[in-house]
Amino acid sequence: MRVGLLTGGGDVPGLNAVIRAVVKRGEGEYGHSIIGFRNGWRGLAEGDVMPLGRQNIRNVLPLGGTLLGTARFHPNAEDGSMDAVLTTLEAERVEALIVVGGDGTLHAASKVAEQGIKVVAIPKTIDNDVWGTDRSIGFDTAVTIATEAIDRIHTTAESHNRVMLVEVMGRTAGWIAATAGIAGGAEVVLAPEEPFDIDKVVKFLKHRHRAHASFSIIVVAEGAEPAPGTAMEYRTQLGRFGEIVAGSISERLKAEIEQRTGFDTRVTVLGHIQRGGTPTAADRILGSRFGVAAIDAITRGETGVMTAQHGEEIVLVPLADIAGKVKHVPLDYLDVASALA
Ligand code: F6P
Repeated sequence: MRVGLLTGGGDVPGLNAVIRAVVKRGEGEYGHSIIGFRNGWRGLAEGDVMPLGRQNIRNVLPLGGTLLGTARFHPNAEDGSMDAVLTTLEAERVEALIVVGGDGTLHAASKVAEQGIKVVAIPKTIDNDVWGTDRSIGFDTAVTIATEAIDRIHTTAESHNRVMLVEVMGRTAGWIAATAGIAGGAEVVLAPEEPFDIDKVVKFLKHRHRAHASFSIIVVAEGAEPAPGTAMEYRTQLGRFGEIVAGSISERLKAEIEQRTGFDTRVTVLGHIQRGGTPTAADRILGSRFGVAAIDAITRGETGVMTAQHGEEIVLVPLADIAGKVKHVPLDYLDVASALA
């Protein structure tokens, strides 16, 4: 069987583990030929093909990024691109497609599957907000990096008696903020799931600094917003391509906190550092398990499904079930974070 593979949307550490697993299992166990499309759906629309054999996947397991490249490009949203995708698949004699991506890429995958193409998807996003799976590839690495950053910020915060704002990624879900906040012992975690009240944040900081500490760490997700009707007016700032303007929420919070408390405050925006570099063991393992599950599913003739982790199991869920849904971080994570402040 000729199987196509692409990685779409933002990159994450662990994608190369998926590619390696698909190639090793697909070629070695089933005798399939695997071809890659460069730069996500764009490469598929443009016919940008790359052969994927054992020689291409040597030593890639510890490498971050994706050897296939990626792009934020969705054929269902670009005029004429769906036809171009179908044309390439026919020209390349691709019988089935494995698509690795976050919400946008997965939505496109379900649209391509509706055209009669056999598609199996794999969830990846450091945001961990793909519905239907406990974990997405990349999340564990991002949390590890963010936790280490908070640990480092801790010592300088304490030395200088400062409030330190650490901005992490997470547009609509606060998984990184909540988990790295707990692991790093942050005093305040602000996440999109629980719009905040600046008065309460300020009251907490003043009390803490009066009672028992001279510094505080606030972890804020880039998509966090104040609750409507509270003292701070702010809406998430978007750039030209619809991306969140890095640092905008934390710079605004710095100004509010300094003005209301007089505490010396600094901002650290972790940004793409969270998405770069070596994947953790957990992401290599998840990528490998998802890759094997996907090529096994393709070989059995499955289509319109996504690999998912449910507890210890890797299962398949219908792509149609996850469309348009966001998996939010449960509020009890935020409760634990504030209980341990
Ligand atoms: O979707 C994952 C993500 O890492 C978000 O957390 C973040 O807002 C976005 O990607 C950044 O995207 P880009 O790499 O396009 O700037």
